[in-house]
Amino acid sequence: MTDSVPVPRAPLRLGVLISGSGSNLQALIDRVADGFIPARIALVISNRADAFGLERARQAGIPTLVIDHKAHPDRPSFEQAMIDALNASQVELVCLAGFMRVLTPRFIRAFAGRLLNIHPALLPAFPGLHVQQRAIEAGARFSGATVHFVTEEVDAGPIIAQAVVPILDNDDASALAARILKHEHRLYPLAVKLYAEGRLRIEGQRVRVMDGDGIDPDVFLIAPVG
Ligand code: GRF
Repeated sequence: MTDSVPVPRAPLRLGVLISGSGSNLQALIDRVADGFIPARIALVISNRADAFGLERARQAGIPTLVIDHKAHPDRPSFEQAMIDALNASQVELVCLAGFMRVLTPRFIRAFAGRLLNIHPALLPAFPGLHVQQRAIEAGARFSGATVHFVTEEVDAGPIIAQAVVPILDNDDASALAARILKHEHRLYPLAVKLYAEGRLRIEGQRVRVMDGDGIDPDVFLIAPVG
């Protein structure tokens, strides 16, 4: 009879796609560095050479790649370049973090169940663009942030975690965006941690969070105010 020897699992390999400031990327870098997320960031890709997030990645010693959509004749070849780079870096989970290109079903299928996005509103309300302005104009009292699996319909995939943020009477879009962003920086690392720990189960449109022998309801209770 032989005892089974546990094989240590290599940390999950993350790829992060950005187009701009990369403050969510920074939150992921910081929470990987302090051990909160059991993963390593294997590659950061930007479609813009001037994205400040590239600098953040370089500072952290993370490999970066600029794949400029304008340098490709069409969307499929742009996306194929990203798929090839992510595969070459053995990326297992792709995090969209302010990546401003709509992805085609082909890319999404290549990473089905392994592709996350953060959106600055409480989905399914306010998908798409200019969401802070739209939430204010609609008279909503609360908005927030959502981390979800990416599916072929934009901003409509199974929701992993949400943070709720109040909309104040004098808010303009940028004040609200800044309030939401602060909470995005807590929310995205939490969702990625749950994924990296293998605790997420997609059941239709719902995501269950497993905690060893059951479901941990606390992880849904992310409603910081401030
Ligand atoms: C965030 O508000 C995120 O929700 C949205 O784009 C913004 C990116 O900000 N998808 P940053 O580049 O992470 O600072």
